[in-house]
Amino acid sequence: MHWVITGANRGIGLALTKQLLSQGERLTVGVRTSMPFEHENLKVLKVDTSNPVSIEEFVSQIEEPIDVLINNAGVLIEEKFPEVTEEGMLLSFKVNTMGPYMLVQESYKQGKLKAGAKIINISSILGSIASTGGTTSIPYSISKAALNMATKLLAHRLKNMYVVSIHPGWVKTDMGGPEAPLLPEESADGIIKVIRNLNQSGVFLDYTGKILPW
Ligand SMILES: NC(=O)c1ccc[n+]([C@@H]2O[C@H](COP(=O)([O-])OP(=O)(O)OC[C@H]3O[C@@H](n4cnc5c(N)ncnc54)[C@H](OP(=O)(O)O)[C@@H]3O)[C@@H](O)[C@H]2O)c1
Repeated sequence: MHWVITGANRGIGLALTKQLLSQGERLTVGVRTSMPFEHENLKVLKVDTSNPVSIEEFVSQIEEPIDVLINNAGVLIEEKFPEVTEEGMLLSFKVNTMGPYMLVQESYKQGKLKAGAKIINISSILGSIASTGGTTSIPYSISKAALNMATKLLAHRLKNMYVVSIHPGWVKTDMGGPEAPLLPEESADGIIKVIRNLNQSGVFLDYTGKILPW
């Protein structure tokens, strides 16, 4: 299968990329800088997911029809009430919400998505309105809640595909920090199994396949 992943140079995206390559899959990854390794089944393209022009160019360079698109790139700008800034809000929205939505829309417009394609928006439990008690970042939670709405709307529109949000767990990455209980490899392993077994659309799941409340 052909998988497309954004933010593949570190963290969860890197772990997903390594595991999928070891499973014999073909990948096109979108990164702002470069990948730490090369592989015959890995095509590396540049993308800044906060920029629609960059997204359009990225999609135009994807050569093979897409079986699985993983919107993984994300930012966590730690701002809390009452210190939230316009800058923090807008950058969070651009990377965490607009980027994933535009990447799906552009892939659709350019005819890159296969019938039956699986579209995975890497969201967060911090974007769940139903289970909100607090947050480490107001812009992050708001942008991931909006991403979940994008998942629902795209699932309604793309009836011949699967569109879901997945919470990867609390993962030891630059974003998750050293206290996180899960290794990127454990999260990636779970996410890949959930994607392979996916048989429903318009749902919010965690990396074990458990349904989460919106
Ligand atoms: N770690 C957790 O505990 C946790 C929990 C819930 C959800 N998540 C979600 O999981 C996903 C991956 O998180 P992570 O923990 O692996 O984070 P990470 O280690 O901070 O990596 C973030 C990735 O996103 C890329 N990125 C950020 N802004 C970008 C942009 N404008 N254009 C292109 N790429 C961009 C980064 O690229 P650069 O290297 O160029 O910056 C990097 O590859 C995110 O969507 C995050 O919100 C993580």
